[in-house]
Amino acid sequence: MTVAVEAAREAGAFLHANHRSALTVETKADESLVTNVDREAERLIISRIQAMFPDHDIIAEERGHASRGSDHCWIIDPLDGTHNYIRGMTTYGVSIGVRKGRSFIAGVIVMPETDETYTAEQGAGAFRNGRRIHVSHRSDLSACTVAFDSELRVEAARKLHVLGELCPSIFNIRMSGSAARNLTYVAEGVVDGVVEFSDKLWDFAAGVVIVTEAGGRMTGLDGAPLTDRDAAYVASNGIIHDSLLRIAESA
Ligand code: IPD
Ligand code: CA
Ligand code: CA
Repeated sequence: MTVAVEAAREAGAFLHANHRSALTVETKADESLVTNVDREAERLIISRIQAMFPDHDIIAEERGHASRGSDHCWIIDPLDGTHNYIRGMTTYGVSIGVRKGRSFIAGVIVMPETDETYTAEQGAGAFRNGRRIHVSHRSDLSACTVAFDSELRVEAARKLHVLGELCPSIFNIRMSGSAARNLTYVAEGVVDGVVEFSDKLWDFAAGVVIVTEAGGRMTGLDGAPLTDRDAAYVASNGIIHDSLLRIAESA
């Protein structure tokens, strides 16, 4: 946890220092964008982890999978919210999760612009800047705020169908542009749920531990525990989980 926090905070300070500076932007094969800052932040994180745990596996968004056959795997998103970052928006963060075997056991998310560090270890609760956090207690779906952040340019019809079902059932929708932000918001009760269709392992590996340890629930769309193959998920305060699953499954 110490190494994860130090690595995420160092990368977060680097992102903050370079926010709204001139960036080199490239388009990846999936048409998402990556910058020189994503790559350098990832390099900082990996070098800290490798210095302490040279035998551990690493899955990093930009560099890919470095497998050493370890039971422990560090899963890194050095800059979650790249599109926000490129456009000068302040909602972006660093996400580092640790998986042991098939279990997600630890997660750290740093949001540099608000100086927030979220931490959670399996069985030990979730924290923001060292203070315990909890999901919301809202049970009335019509009073709930739900983050819906899937890239709408991909599979627009399917996602808009779900959005069309969701909107009349809840109070309002938010699209933050950062999966890490959405999941920390669920964990601290700022929003009541997230419906997501197209994330990657590094988008949720830290968040799933933070949400769960804050008393929430996070599953694939079938209601089963998240695996590294899931792209679509629902995260929630637990109370509204099955209602969100029913709506998301209508896709
Ligand atoms: C993206 C953000 C976005 C989510 C996308 C992710 P990136 O991550 O988390 O909110 O909708 O699915 O890919 O590319 O900025 O690290
Ligand atoms: Ca991401
Ligand atoms: Ca990223």
